[in-house]
Amino acid sequence: MRLENKVAIVTGATSGMGRATAVLFAREGAKVVVVGRNEKRAKEVVDQIKAEGKEAIYVLGDAADLAFCDEIVNKTVEAYGTVDILINNAGMLSMSSLQNVTIEEWDKVFRVNVDSALKLCQLVAPIMKAKGKGVIVNVASVASFAAHHGFAPYISSKHAMAGLSKSMAWELGPEIRVNAIAPGLIHTAMVDSIGGPAVLQGMIDNCPVKRCGQPDELPGVLRGSRVFY
Ligand SMILES: NC(=O)c1ccc[n+]([C@@H]2O[C@H](COP(=O)([O-])OP(=O)(O)OC[C@H]3O[C@@H](n4cnc5c(N)ncnc54)[C@H](OP(=O)(O)O)[C@@H]3O)[C@@H](O)[C@H]2O)c1
Repeated sequence: MRLENKVAIVTGATSGMGRATAVLFAREGAKVVVVGRNEKRAKEVVDQIKAEGKEAIYVLGDAADLAFCDEIVNKTVEAYGTVDILINNAGMLSMSSLQNVTIEEWDKVFRVNVDSALKLCQLVAPIMKAKGKGVIVNVASVASFAAHHGFAPYISSKHAMAGLSKSMAWELGPEIRVNAIAPGLIHTAMVDSIGGPAVLQGMIDNCPVKRCGQPDELPGVLRGSRVFY
C-alpha cells in the first residue's frame, strides 16, 4: 500500500498500459482518476478497481480538446480534494509519412500526445507545489530517441515528449519529481492497429529480446521506480 491516500490521474487508462497502471495504483492504495474516451472500458476499469475494494472514478473526453484537461483536474479535486500523481499516458498513433500527413492530422497527434500533457502539467503543478510534493510521469517511447521510415507525426511527437519532460523536470523540481518512461514494443491495441500477426511478428523480430512486452510491464517499471513515495 505504498500509495495510500494519494490521488492519481492516469490518462489513457481505458486500455493497455494506462489501464494496467490504474489497477496497480489502486491496489497500492491510491484513489485513481481513470481518463479516456471509451465509456464502456472506463466503467470496466473503475468496476474492477471497486470490486477489489479500492477507489476510482472516470472522466471521459478527448485529449485533443484542451478544455477537457480543465475538466479532468476539476473533477479530480471535486471528488478527492487534491492531486498527488499525474501519469500522462494517453497517446495516439499516426502511420502517415512526412509526404502524406496533413497539418490537421499532425496537429491532432501533437494535441493528444504532447499539448494535453503540457496543459495537465500546468493545471496540477500549482496544486503539487502548494503541497511541496508531487510526481509526474510522461509516457514517451523508444520513438523519442530513434526514427525510421514512416510514422513521422508519432515519432516527432514522442521526441517532443522527451524534451517536454526534461523541461518540466527543471522547472517543477525539486518539489515535483518529473520522469519520462520510454517503453519499447508492448502488445496493446495501439500495436495491433498497425497490422495483423505477420506485422507484429516482424516487429518482434526487430527487437533485441525477440519478444513483445505486455501492458502490465509499465506499472512494473513504475513500481520499481521512485514514482512510489
Ligand atoms: N504499445 C507500445 O508498443 C508503446 C511503445 C511506446 C510508447 N507507447 C505509448 O504508451 C502510451 C499508451 O499506449 P498503449 O500502447 O497502452 O495503447 P492503447 O492500449 O491503445 O491505449 C491508448 C490509450 O490512450 C487513450 N487515448 C487515445 N487517444 C485519445 C484521445 N484523443 N483522448 C483521450 N484519450 C485518448 C485511449 O483511450 P480510449 O480508447 O478510451 O479513447 C487509451 O486509453 C501511449 O502514449 C503510447 O504512445 C506505446
